[in-house]
Amino acid sequence: MNQVLYHLGSRGIEYSLKPWMDAHDVALMAYCPLAQAGELQRGLVEHPVLNRIAAEHQATVLQFLLAFVLQREHTIAIPRSGKSAHVEANAGALDIRLSEQELAEIDQAFPAPDHKTYLDIV
Ligand SMILES: NC(=O)c1ccc[n+]([C@@H]2O[C@H](COP(=O)([O-])OP(=O)(O)OC[C@H]3O[C@@H](n4cnc5c(N)ncnc54)[C@H](OP(=O)(O)O)[C@@H]3O)[C@@H](O)[C@H]2O)c1
Repeated sequence: MNQVLYHLGSRGIEYSLKPWMDAHDVALMAYCPLAQAGELQRGLVEHPVLNRIAAEHQATVLQFLLAFVLQREHTIAIPRSGKSAHVEANAGALDIRLSEQELAEIDQAFPAPDHKTYLDIV
């Protein structure tokens, strides 16, 4: 298991690290999977594509961000919350299944890197 920062707005690990981990049977534990409720990247939670797709799933954008991470192979996430309502909402993200078309739209709006990049820490 390798615990690293991973959320939709920070996909640097997808180019080299995650494929290496997959090849070596190392699971991913994504920290800050909600981008600290969007604080780590301006505009993430407000993004129109995310808001539209989340609404189609009757989900919040934060649930959607969590669903995105959880749908990756061999990946778990550790969202933090001090509010029971948020914890329940986050558990609800497990029920959201993004379609291939939705994932393609998300890739277009938030592309994974096509070369090695410095990895974000926070
Ligand atoms: N290994 C490392 O170097 C490292 C570094 C950073 C963090 N971590 C770990 O990763 C975990 C998560 O990191 P994090 O707390 O920085 O980021 P995060 O889980 O992405 O975001 C947490 C923030 O999101 C809010 N939140 C959670 N669920 C929500 C919801 N459903 N609706 C609205 N707001 C929601 C929380 O506020 P509320 O409390 O109000 O819900 C909190 O402000 C932590 O447990 C931390 O220990 C590890």
